[in-house]
Amino acid sequence: MSDIAERLAELERLGLSRRLRMISGPQGPTVLLDGKPVLLLCSNNYLGLADHPRVREAAADAAMRWGVGAGSSRLVSGSMTIHRRLEERLAGFEGTESCVLFGSGYLANIGVIGALAGADDVIFSDELNHASIVDGCRLSRAEVVIYRHRDIEHLDWSLRRHGERRARRLIVTDSVFSMDGDIAPLAHIAELAQIYGARIVVDEAHATGNVGPDGRGAVAAAGLEGEIDVVIGTLGKALGSYGAYACASTEMVQYLINTARSLIFSTAPGPPAAAGALAALELLQERPHRVGRLRSNARALRRGLAGEGFGVADSEMHIVPLIVGEERAAMALCQQALELGVFAQAIRPPTVPAGTSRLRLTVMASHTPGELREAARTLCEAARRVGIDPEQVMAPAAEPLDEVQEIETALGRAERLAASTAAEDDEASGTPTPFDFERDAPGAAPAVAPSLGEELAALSERIEEPGAATELFDVEREATVRAA
Ligand SMILES: Cc1ncc(COP(=O)(O)O)c(C=O)c1O
Repeated sequence: MSDIAERLAELERLGLSRRLRMISGPQGPTVLLDGKPVLLLCSNNYLGLADHPRVREAAADAAMRWGVGAGSSRLVSGSMTIHRRLEERLAGFEGTESCVLFGSGYLANIGVIGALAGADDVIFSDELNHASIVDGCRLSRAEVVIYRHRDIEHLDWSLRRHGERRARRLIVTDSVFSMDGDIAPLAHIAELAQIYGARIVVDEAHATGNVGPDGRGAVAAAGLEGEIDVVIGTLGKALGSYGAYACASTEMVQYLINTARSLIFSTAPGPPAAAGALAALELLQERPHRVGRLRSNARALRRGLAGEGFGVADSEMHIVPLIVGEERAAMALCQQALELGVFAQAIRPPTVPAGTSRLRLTVMASHTPGELREAARTLCEAARRVGIDPEQVMAPAAEPLDEVQEIETALGRAERLAASTAAEDDEASGTPTPFDFERDAPGAAPAVAPSLGEELAALSERIEEPGAATELFDVEREATVRAA
């Protein structure tokens, strides 16, 4: 047996083997899968634009006018007028000075991260960031500090601990997390970036077209337009095409054009993909009601699932994870649902952490509420048939991203910034401030109980070991709570 065959057999044994499923025809709300019509409940064609007649026509027309391929990278002969038109429109949409296209979201993330951090730098990355961000961090050769999912205190602590000896600091996060459908605390992250002099890259792959005012994304919803160093988005999800973009200041975009290796060393997106995305963006801006339909559809699916006993929160978030846990159980549920006419692909490690395999349901604006309610019933029936109790299926709460909450966050931000500046002033004047690692630990910490002090000292000694830094953070957090 070859090593490849052995590895494949091992994947099969672990319930992690994958195969390609074949769809005939376009990516509509219902598709023909392996010849059978099924409701499509796992596509990122959120706004239903991938098969919209105007988008198709624009792509076909572009193929006739400019041809299919760009023929080379953007920096050689591959920059075409259709790219520039799309870039200008995207910059306007994102509220930034400038924009540059990449071949895909994956390429954009590895290119931008590598341009903004190198061997002497440090990157702070949410533990549930997308694989393309993870790979971008690895490729950059920077020190990578993983902070707990959406844990702003952990990020704050990590910035304080790891940053000072490094030349550049970069915080990178998904805005809407692809597998859980929850949202990064962007306003808090922006605040920390300001305090610690870090840059921020936000990946809006699952937010563009879907969340925020008129679908302009989570950055716009948080009132942070123009405050994020680089906003990345893909053209392959809500914008129904293929390719990606980075929106930023003119200076930053010039820098990316000069330094992002995945832009420099890769062929430019083909004219049909760019023209299709441009038509989709125009449609989104002309008729933002499509975003409203996506949201009400998300509610319909969530309420339908809750009515069937699944522990799904009522919100407008279009990504609905049904976390089954074990890999084979998730696959069995997926297969049973397919047999009953609902296509919701099971997602397993390494895409999600071990033991959290799930059906990742995604709503589209082109579904009808009736189809989604029926899908909820089908999923319940499928779960019962494979011996899964819907009430045991976990679904992390997706927080509502309504404008009110975000405005409150933005208001709170100013207050917190003032408070943290005051804390720094206190430090300068010698007034005790909340627990601080550098100052209070180990040993000389009046606020820390002796046993905690010892624990901190022991942890500090083995700080380079995997997981030790996070343990240290936990002990420190406990110390802070006790001191308070
Ligand atoms: C958060 C996130 N970023 C980036 C990407 C990659 O985008 P693309 O499919 O355009 O390569 C994805 C795709 O799944 C994603 O979920």
